[in-house]
This record gives sequence, structure tokens and C-alpha cells, in this order.
Amino acid sequence: MLIDNLLYSYNGFTLQIGHLEIPDEKITSIIGPNGSGKTTFLKCIGGLLKPVRGRIVFKNMEILSIPPLKKARTISFAIGDIPKGFAIRVLDFVAMGRYPYSGLIGLSDEDWNIVWSILGETGLRELAHKRLDQLSSGELQKVLIARALVQEPKILLLDEPTSHLDLKHTLEILELIRKECARKHMTVLMSMHNVNMALKYSDYVIVLNNGRVKTSGKPQEILKPSLIEEVYGVKVEIVEIDGSKHIIPTAVSASYS
Ligand SMILES: Nc1ncnc2c1ncn2[C@@H]1O[C@H](COP(=O)(O)OP(=O)(O)OP(=O)(O)O)[C@@H](O)[C@H]1O
Ligand SMILES: [Mg+2]
Repeated sequence: MLIDNLLYSYNGFTLQIGHLEIPDEKITSIIGPNGSGKTTFLKCIGGLLKPVRGRIVFKNMEILSIPPLKKARTISFAIGDIPKGFAIRVLDFVAMGRYPYSGLIGLSDEDWNIVWSILGETGLRELAHKRLDQLSSGELQKVLIARALVQEPKILLLDEPTSHLDLKHTLEILELIRKECARKHMTVLMSMHNVNMALKYSDYVIVLNNGRVKTSGKPQEILKPSLIEEVYGVKVEIVEIDGSKHIIPTAVSASYS
């Protein structure tokens, strides 16, 4: 995916991305401090915000201007919260992810197979008949991800997909995303606060700071202590366990405190 000359502005904040290539059919994490523009960037790609200018090209498709049905079959996202009191059942909400394929005639057996399979993979089968407004934050987060996966997109956008999940569910969901990415050849773009999870699960990392790309590249190559200190204002140690690197924050950097 190519991002070219993208500009989006709120009052007092500008996201500006000159030229950025994101690898297709891989997992890319967007990291960066609070307020650096990660959600805004994902919303621009997903069409939830309309950039002032710029192009986003994916496999010869100009994705900012593709028609709605094609877009729904190309991009899905789990971004933001569901409005409170959205009293629909988990099963019906997740099944909505198949609407771009089923239209108004209703879901086929094949569609329902996909829905139940993803509900199984996300550990949501037992909750299928519960209402969204009766779920915990973590359960709701998994429901949003399940709906996005059921849509079988070419591009999957996830805004902090594990922010409400416990340790086990974090690993399970990221493993599932990795598996689905490989199996369905999806291009996954997700924002992440946990730099260790970004290190472990992404093929590529984009570091945002103040609405600009600070750097991008393979996680092992770019997630160095000096970069993390500069961007996040914390000192870190890198420890290696069984051949894998782990980033341990040790203190707020003196120049930021
Ligand atoms: N609807 C809005 N109106 C005005 N400013 C906004 C709006 N949404 C976000 N902003 C501002 O834009 C900047 C970027 O916000 P964004 O949500 O993209 O950051 P983020 O990197 O996702 O942060 P976080 O890690 O906290 O989720 C912030 O300074 C924020 O205050
Ligand atoms: Mg955000």
C-alpha cells in the first residue's frame, strides 16, 4: 500500500504523511505516543475521516474513492467503541460483517459457517446470544475484531486491538490475527501501545510522532532504545530471552520529566 502526500487536520493537530510504503499481505503496527495521530491515520485509510488531500493506493486501487460495496469487501476495521445501549446480539452483530457479500437476501450457509468459525476462533461462541450492552470491555473488543474478520477484507484496520484484553487473550488474538493474515493474504494495519507485542507480531512498524512518520521499518531493526527514548521519553533496556528481544521500560527520561 502506498500513502502519498496525505494531509488531515483537526483544529490544532495535523497528520501529514509525505510518502510511505506499507508492505502488502503483512502485519504492520503503528506505534507512537498518545495523541501522535495513530487513530486519525487509521480512520483516514478506513474512510471514517476524509483527508484534505493525498492518495492511498492499494494494488492499483485508489482506496479513497472506491465505491461503497467494493470498499466494504476491501477494507474492514475495528476502530472505536460501540455506542452505549446498542442492544443487538453478538451473533447478529458479527454476522453484519457478511452483509457486503449477502446483500439483503440474508446470509447463506457458507456465510453462517464463516461467522461461527470466527466466533469459535475468538472464543465467543458461548456469548453468541448475549447482547453487546451486556459484555465486558474485553469481550466487546473481541466482538469488534470478530466482526472485522468475518468481513474477510483485503485490508484489516485495528485500533489498539488488545487494549482491553488480559495477557492470555492478548496473545490469542494476536496469534489469530497472524494466522488469518497469512491464510487470507490480508494486509493488516494496527495501532499498538505495547511495543513488545509490536516487536513480536509485526512484520513492519511505523513510528508516528506529532502527526508525522518518525521512522518505519522492520521492528527488530528500528525499535532501539535510543528511538524509544526520543519518541516516548522513557529509558528502556532490551533483554533477550530464548533468542527473542523484550523491551523493558526502566525510567522516565530525565529530559522529559
Ligand atoms: N475529533 C477531534 N477533534 C479535534 N481534535 C482531535 C479529534 N480527535 C483527535 N484529535 C486530536 O488529534 C490528535 C491525534 O489524535 P489521535 O486520536 O489520532 O491520536 P492517537 O495516536 O490515536 O492517540 P492515543 O494513543 O491516545 O489513542 C490529538 O492531539 C487529539 O487531541
Ligand atoms: Mg488512538
